[in-house]
Amino acid sequence: MIQTPYYLIDKEKLTRNMEIVARVRAQSGARALLALKCFATWSVFDLMRQYMDGTTSSSLYEVRLGREKFGGETHAYSVAWADHEIDEAASHADKIIFNTVGQLDRFADRVDIAQGLRLNPGISSSSFDLADPARPFSRLGEWDAARVEPVLDRVSGFMIHNNCENADFELFSRMLDTIEQKFGALLSRVEWVSLGGGIHFTGENYPLDAFCERLKRFSGRFGVQVYLEPGEAAITKSTTLEVTVLDTLYNGKHLAIVDSSIEAHMLDLLIYRESARVAPNAGEHEFMVCGKSCLAGDVFGTFRFPQALKVGDRVSIQDAAGYTMVKKNWFNGVQMPSIAIREPDGSVRTVREFTFADYEASLS
Ligand SMILES: Cc1ncc(COP(=O)(O)O)c(C=O)c1O
Repeated sequence: MIQTPYYLIDKEKLTRNMEIVARVRAQSGARALLALKCFATWSVFDLMRQYMDGTTSSSLYEVRLGREKFGGETHAYSVAWADHEIDEAASHADKIIFNTVGQLDRFADRVDIAQGLRLNPGISSSSFDLADPARPFSRLGEWDAARVEPVLDRVSGFMIHNNCENADFELFSRMLDTIEQKFGALLSRVEWVSLGGGIHFTGENYPLDAFCERLKRFSGRFGVQVYLEPGEAAITKSTTLEVTVLDTLYNGKHLAIVDSSIEAHMLDLLIYRESARVAPNAGEHEFMVCGKSCLAGDVFGTFRFPQALKVGDRVSIQDAAGYTMVKKNWFNGVQMPSIAIREPDGSVRTVREFTFADYEASLS
């Protein structure tokens, strides 16, 4: 038995997503780069690299991790590169993508790899202001084609990320229509366009044939190599957070306190005020599952169980890969979850454990 808490990555479930990614690549001609900001647990990169072309990044450390641990095609993007980062970032990458014309102007002469620019079409599918790249006054990319025109001779491609948790193909396609209208004159003058992440094409019943057709049509119309940057779509439903009940109490509701913390181990749910999920979430007994940090609102959610929870019971929190392991932290000094992998033959091995020394080393 592995000591909880731990994240458990199931390779078979991961492979299901990977096979869809591979199908989309083959059928549409698009290349797929894993967005490391979402998932950077490199112990499963040996599996993922069989199905994907490489990685894309949001910082110097991510681009280096992508190059060293994943390999393949490596895109380096950052909202803003610092002067002392640019040479090293370029040394690890095949393409470097600047967020603004200002950054391109500043660094273009320093790098001798392909250069790209982020465009912002001013529309997105985000339902959260916090995560909306098209929010008012957004700093994420250039909006104005007239500003980009004069630097076209220095860029070979564009990156556009405006899909956010978008499971609606029609919406994706309509937004792409708008992008074509708005930036068409620019797109036909470059070699590649990355359409970013946020397209939930590995979800159930996603119309993959129509999606691939749409990507092909876009690629053909402008004569560009299309890239996709799936984060969440690559790892969705592959991973759980395994926790154990440490205490139960009744305060008008049945509560169970577990050996984990939503703030430390599934922070995104707290930021976006969403509930965690357990499966099947059915049965007669309703419990509010709470974390062990001091934060009063450290609550995973209220779920149903077939039996009343008691000390020592295990609870499996679903979908714990994306924007989760990359955001885990040492708040309250709560034991950081280990990382374990379930192999296709059912065996489970621990690939990383965190100790006091890691906690200590995270500060000084
Ligand atoms: C530029 C860029 N590419 C890719 C992604 C990955 O998105 P997702 O994990 O939703 O697929 C993001 C997410 O914010 C992004 O900003």
